[in-house]
Amino acid sequence: MEMGNRQVTQSHYGAPDVLEVREVPRPVAKHNEVLIQVKAVSVTLADCAFRQADPFVTRLFNGFLRPRKLVLGSDIGGVVAAVGRDVTRFAVGDAVFGSIGSALGGCADYVCLAEDAAVVRRPEGLDAGDAAGLSYAYLTAMPFLRDAAQLKQGDRVLINGASSSIGVIAVQLAVHFGAEVTAVCSARHAGLIRSLGATHVIDRHAVNFTTAQNAYDVIFDVVGKSSFRRCKAALRQGGIYLTTVPSPATFWHMLSTRKSARRAQVMLTGLRPALDKHKDLLQLVALVQSGAVRPVSDRCYLLAQVAAAHAYVEAGLKSGAVVVEMA
Ligand SMILES: NC(=O)c1ccc[n+]([C@@H]2O[C@H](COP(=O)([O-])OP(=O)(O)OC[C@H]3O[C@@H](n4cnc5c(N)ncnc54)[C@H](OP(=O)(O)O)[C@@H]3O)[C@@H](O)[C@H]2O)c1
Repeated sequence: MEMGNRQVTQSHYGAPDVLEVREVPRPVAKHNEVLIQVKAVSVTLADCAFRQADPFVTRLFNGFLRPRKLVLGSDIGGVVAAVGRDVTRFAVGDAVFGSIGSALGGCADYVCLAEDAAVVRRPEGLDAGDAAGLSYAYLTAMPFLRDAAQLKQGDRVLINGASSSIGVIAVQLAVHFGAEVTAVCSARHAGLIRSLGATHVIDRHAVNFTTAQNAYDVIFDVVGKSSFRRCKAALRQGGIYLTTVPSPATFWHMLSTRKSARRAQVMLTGLRPALDKHKDLLQLVALVQSGAVRPVSDRCYLLAQVAAAHAYVEAGLKSGAVVVEMA
């Protein structure tokens, strides 16, 4: 049994200091699996939510009293270290990235994934950290904008939380779809968000965007800080309000507005089938290669600093992705 596999584990829910680094045996790839040496893993508000079981709904997926999945981390960049005997898509040494999804476990030196998991080759020039950040943000933002909003040329879209990990990619995707983008963020992030193509930038500390009337086809609240009720009047006829944060209120608004002129929708993108995510990652690679989407990264931490990474993410001050590098 080979050792040399560090994992970040937690035996109970709580603050960042519940996270511990421990050494465990390296997993062995089954016949249809690849063993990936993780180079970087993204640290997100979703990880923080699972770590502390807040919101409560995370306990439905990860255990009521104690976490069932002890190792967090869903989006990774790495290199294929070994392949099972039936694997045809990957070879040892391939640079890869992608999403483990709700199975989690990416915050480790090594992880085994089925070869048809949501993992693809990393394009030249995209490092493991940027790739891990892109995977998380793109696989969340794209289904909202493409599938729920069916965004098209000329649509007016407002993105609240534009400087968040998901927001910086949502802005670029909306621009790519040909929408006119109004971005809401702090003034200190306005330059960054303009550079990503937003036409209008609203300083969230100076202006309450929800007072607009009949202004947007799509309001995408990436950080889930508003509500359908407050945003409804700002939507145009046929408009849709999207939020990433599930709650009883968002589910109720989604059900009760299904046939209304102004609708609400929440999605749990992490639960999408791996095959769909795999296809989306291939499209992401094409968008990165064409220059339509670029990674936006904030801080990079070492594995030993994983608790500090969680604390920084929770502070809500970052712009773009935060990653932990394993080396
Ligand atoms: N539904 C799903 O399937 C799904 C999947 C993944 C993640 N999520 C959820 O998506 C949410 C966003 O995740 P993320 O990783 O993109 O977040 P993040 O990067 O951690 O967001 C941080 C940014 O949010 C902005 N912000 C903070 N408070 C705000 C407020 N009151 N109004 C507007 N912006 C505010 C701040 O930017 P400024 O200071 O510039 O405003 C901050 O830099 C999380 O709640 C996560 O759990 C949902």
